[in-house]
Amino acid sequence: MTLTAPEPSPSPRSALRRATKRAYLMCPPTYFDVVYAINDWMDPAVRVDTELAMHQWLDLVRTYRSLGHDVSIVEPVAGLPDMVFVTDSGLVVDGVAVGARYRSPHRAAEAGHVLNWLRANGHPEAAAPEFVNEGEGDFLVVGSTILAGTGFRSDPRAHAEVGARLGREVLTLNLIDPTYYHLNTALGVLDDATIAYLPKAFAPDSLTLLRERFPNAVIADEADTAWLGLNLVSDGYHVVLAAQATGLADQLRDIGFQPVPVDFAEFRKSGGGIKCATMELRGSAAGGSRGSAGVELR
Ligand code: ARG
Repeated sequence: MTLTAPEPSPSPRSALRRATKRAYLMCPPTYFDVVYAINDWMDPAVRVDTELAMHQWLDLVRTYRSLGHDVSIVEPVAGLPDMVFVTDSGLVVDGVAVGARYRSPHRAAEAGHVLNWLRANGHPEAAAPEFVNEGEGDFLVVGSTILAGTGFRSDPRAHAEVGARLGREVLTLNLIDPTYYHLNTALGVLDDATIAYLPKAFAPDSLTLLRERFPNAVIADEADTAWLGLNLVSDGYHVVLAAQATGLADQLRDIGFQPVPVDFAEFRKSGGGIKCATMELRGSAAGGSRGSAGVELR
């Protein structure tokens, strides 16, 4: 097993955790910039360091590959500065892909480019949804269930649409804090049964649901979520997360996960983090994961 950095010896509970090989789709931040503001993090007056962004993104790609995962690349398109946040452009589960429909006209064209990539890479069935649906920005897969956010971006009617399309249970979660406008800024999936979340981002009824369904969840602190620490990518053991989210990393280590910190802070200027830049291709032929799904890496 290759790790990106030396880590303290794993907790005994790490014996509970299993990494499985994943396939990811990513989009280089060639045209990344903040030129409009569609969330509270974005300020077009703040300068983006494109070179630093590219450096951080390449580091993330290297990290996934060093952990044994496949990374496929969709070509970036000039004039679409948020396309690096490719996770918002679709959802792939059991080899079935659902496209996205953006709320903002600024991002609308991204959906078509990623849909075309999916269709050309093993998903001829991929189609655009009827209702506003920001892909894995708002739809997170936990085992056989899909948690779906609404309140700022995805339309709640898209939740039923996705459930029907994928034949999965979809649980609606209402987001109430504009800082955490996509579900994946307020909740991270660690494995098929374990999540981490920030309670204040959810409406009371949604919080009750989360507590019932995930009594052993990791409760995140705002010191970490302010760095988009919950915008993480886990393979069941290694949890790739914002390097600044050190408190969350400690919490994860305590319950047997292996935090893998990556500095992705340039993208925070746009309200995006590591998970936003990483769409998972579950059971997809693209990236060769169909044959490798379920392969244990440790
Ligand atoms: N600027 C992008 C937007 O507001 C950031 C998206 C980040 N993606 C995410 N899933 N949080 O749409």
